[in-house]
Amino acid sequence: MKNIDFDFVADIYDAYVAVGFDIGFFSKYAKEIKGKTLELMCGTGRVSIPLLNNGIDLTCLDYSQEMLRVLERKTIGLSNQPRIVCQDVCELKLDEEYELIYIPFNSFSEIVDRDKQKAALARIFDHLAQDALFICTLYNPCYRIKTADGLLRILGRFPMEPEESLVVSYYNHYDDKTEAVKGMQFYEIYDSKNVLIDKRFLDIHFSLLSRAAFEKMALESGFAMRDVYGDYDCAPFSEESIYMNFVLEK
Ligand SMILES: C[S@@+](CC[C@H](N)C(=O)[O-])C[C@H]1O[C@@H](n2cnc3c(N)ncnc32)[C@H](O)[C@@H]1O
Repeated sequence: MKNIDFDFVADIYDAYVAVGFDIGFFSKYAKEIKGKTLELMCGTGRVSIPLLNNGIDLTCLDYSQEMLRVLERKTIGLSNQPRIVCQDVCELKLDEEYELIYIPFNSFSEIVDRDKQKAALARIFDHLAQDALFICTLYNPCYRIKTADGLLRILGRFPMEPEESLVVSYYNHYDDKTEAVKGMQFYEIYDSKNVLIDKRFLDIHFSLLSRAAFEKMALESGFAMRDVYGDYDCAPFSEESIYMNFVLEK
């Protein structure tokens, strides 16, 4: 059972997640290493495709068959082909060792269960070469919790082919007993005359990990903490930061 079932929105994901603010950050690390790179929870390849275009030797892993189907379509014709794997990161088992592993876009928090988070970190550690890096980017919970207040918000209106538009709205609420956020995301697709032609919703459930909680698990899994950045330009993390970008070393 998936916490957020992206299979259901894989065909429209690229329309409403058309951002690239983190690509330079991951590219910088990937270009610095010589061997193989593994992107976990890669989705439709928002980050993977630019890295492949930069010649990175990349394995892309996700457990959503439909998200990977979109990625596969986007890689047709690329001279640098990725290895694409459908697998749960908590049960990660590949026959290769990596010089860099990363998880973009707050996706680690989609593993809600603490034991499964620890299992994922242990599996990631085992797949890294000695001295290699694991980068995990999360939201600073102090920032993210502000919009987990139960209010309905509009994420935006996004153009879609052919002459359609997608309106995405959501609400989140924080449950302090489970330290998790639950909610729903609503998707409405309108034709060129603004007539509603499709409506879907997606259940949302992710954990809000504190810096201390993540660091404790990472250290217990054997990692050393190299850096914690508060953004994608490598500014140091502070309580006011939006992001919590961990660079861990084996
Ligand atoms: C928010 S999307 C991010 C996709 C992409 N990395 C990006 O930045 O646009 C989260 C992705 O993580 C995947 N995912 C969530 N839990 C997973 C797990 N336990 N194992 C593998 N993939 C997982 C989902 O299927 C989804 O494609």
